[in-house]
Amino acid sequence: MANRIALISDIHLSRARPYFHANWEILLEELAAEAPDLILISGDLALDGPHREDDLAFARAQLDRLPAPWHAVPGNHDIGNARPDLRGEAVVTEARREAWTHYFGPAWWSLDVDGWRVVGLDSLVCGSGFPAETEQAAFLHGAFAGAEGRPVALLFHKPLCDQSMLEPAMSQSFWYPAARALVADALQQGAVRLVISGHLHEARDRMIEGIRHLWVPGTAFVQDMAVEWVPDRGGRRRVGFMMLELGTTPRAFPREPSRMFNTDIGSWLRDGIGHYAVIAGPAPYLGLTTAPFIAEAA
Ligand SMILES: [Fe+2]
Ligand SMILES: [Fe+2]
Repeated sequence: MANRIALISDIHLSRARPYFHANWEILLEELAAEAPDLILISGDLALDGPHREDDLAFARAQLDRLPAPWHAVPGNHDIGNARPDLRGEAVVTEARREAWTHYFGPAWWSLDVDGWRVVGLDSLVCGSGFPAETEQAAFLHGAFAGAEGRPVALLFHKPLCDQSMLEPAMSQSFWYPAARALVADALQQGAVRLVISGHLHEARDRMIEGIRHLWVPGTAFVQDMAVEWVPDRGGRRRVGFMMLELGTTPRAFPREPSRMFNTDIGSWLRDGIGHYAVIAGPAPYLGLTTAPFIAEAA
């Protein structure tokens, strides 16, 4: 019988700013009922890891409550966005990458399950010019070589593209066009059969140029359900997660627990990332962080 894999993404946890913690608690209950054999997490575990390391520490501690072994890849709200920055967001640095490794382990990894090889990658380091970029490329080359005919599923935070691997636009939403070279050959040669990503907080299951691309919905929030500020990409904007069974043809089952809060932060993004940085970022937030509500009695 195939392993039951839970795909979860974009949980955006924070001890200081626990805006989305209710959905995390509900997710834990849902996963306990699903009883998956394995959990894969496609990034954005923290609300704002680049500015507040405790978000990473808190998210890591919360993962101990998951009901199955887990493997995670970093998101832009964990280690910073890919370089160059397009909209005023914190970018990936060596120090931020090291913080990820400290809490969550290697940012790229490989595991074999149900006749497949699942390879997790750091999609934010691509194009950085850091030594880690070269190290990741060498690791990926070895992972393909060692697959020995097994189909490969790739897992990373940002989707590779919207409609085509050849689309030229640079967008915060997808891998930058030049960075796609890391995996383009493997996709063309058929070594990769499934690509799993998060980041957009939308669920989508689509064949693109012969490869299946699965977008895992966010658990924390949705972005612009009314499609007023964020472009319509044909995905479904609801919080939730997915169950996956690999096999000859992978089967994906979206889950949208009705009791989860569909908090829509589209308005945070209306004027770029700036408002997210204010709401989620490092500025003191009295009451939730440093200041007690009621003074201790003398
Ligand atoms: Fe996210
Ligand atoms: Fe993201």
